[in-house]
Amino acid sequence: MPNSPSDADRPCRVRIQHRGPLLVEGPVEVELEDGSTVVSDRFRVALCTCRRSRRYPWCDTSHRERTRP
Ligand code: FES
Repeated sequence: MPNSPSDADRPCRVRIQHRGPLLVEGPVEVELEDGSTVVSDRFRVALCTCRRSRRYPWCDTSHRERTRP
């Protein structure tokens, strides 16, 4: 059985998505441009890269293209 690194030894993983949020393993603390910080305790956090989120810096799926049915 291969050894797996403990959580403390393992680097934080960030996944980049084309036209989507950055997926970051949580918990995270994000420092905003104004110097304030926001915190999420979730195990995976989606950080908005499109700036359209009403919950910025968290992704609220506003990056998705709207299509009429
Ligand atoms: S990346 Fe999802 S709302 Fe901006």
